Amino acid sequence: MLKSKTKIQKMFDTISNEYDMLNNIITFGQHKKWKSKVHKLAESQNPKLILDVATGTADIAILLSQIKNCKIIGIDISKKMLSFGQKKIEQLYLNDKIKLETGDVESLKYSDNYFNVVTIGYGVRNFENLELGLMESNRVLKKNGTIIILETSVPQNRFFKKIYNIFSSTIIPLIGKIFSKNPSAYKYLNKSASIFPSGKMFEKILLKVGFRQTQSIELLFGASTIYIAKK
Ligand SMILES: C[S@@+](CC[C@H](N)C(=O)[O-])C[C@H]1O[C@@H](n2cnc3c(N)ncnc32)[C@H](O)[C@@H]1O
Repeated sequence: MLKSKTKIQKMFDTISNEYDMLNNIITFGQHKKWKSKVHKLAESQNPKLILDVATGTADIAILLSQIKNCKIIGIDISKKMLSFGQKKIEQLYLNDKIKLETGDVESLKYSDNYFNVVTIGYGVRNFENLELGLMESNRVLKKNGTIIILETSVPQNRFFKKIYNIFSSTIIPLIGKIFSKNPSAYKYLNKSASIFPSGKMFEKILLKVGFRQTQSIELLFGASTIYIAKK
């Protein structure tokens, strides 16, 4: 599926005000649990500086801010998603721990070997150039640094795959139709999830762009997966 960066950025701009609410509805609140898992995995690396790529409304950055003596930079191409994130950060008085910046993962402005950890929550499948985005994430990581990626995936088990397919092809577009100003966004998000490489296929891409020691953790029978790898 071809994705133009401008289209993606506009799409997230238009759904930014409903993004958090619809995320809660579509995942039955499960995304919070999965993002907490990303936080715990990141914390186990004792990081001092984390880059949260495709931070959106900053859910993951906010969780990561619980890590002691650690600063977080969150970047995103959608200014509107970031502005909702910034409001949340201000309400929680987290300005000194989290800095949000407009930025494109495919051309990061940070030096080589800069961050201890890079996190990407539900971002990779929206990158226009996936490999370039992952290569840039690798470049800015310190040697032995860790990348933690949370992304939707398709369950391998036939029974759960069937339930997943019915849910994502009928319920998600319906929820989009009822609640969203831009229902086509939910069609795109569903379609892109169904064709995006997952499991071993995604690990192969991580290895190809220079990561090592890849691991996958399946969540909810494989409806989402956390990938962990080292630089
Ligand atoms: C589904 S949202 C995920 C937001 C947040 N991480 C979360 O887990 O709720 C995907 C985000 O990826 C951002 N994005 C897409 N392509 C990007 C790129 N090339 N660089 C940075 N952010 C990008 C979008 O603007 C959007 O905010």
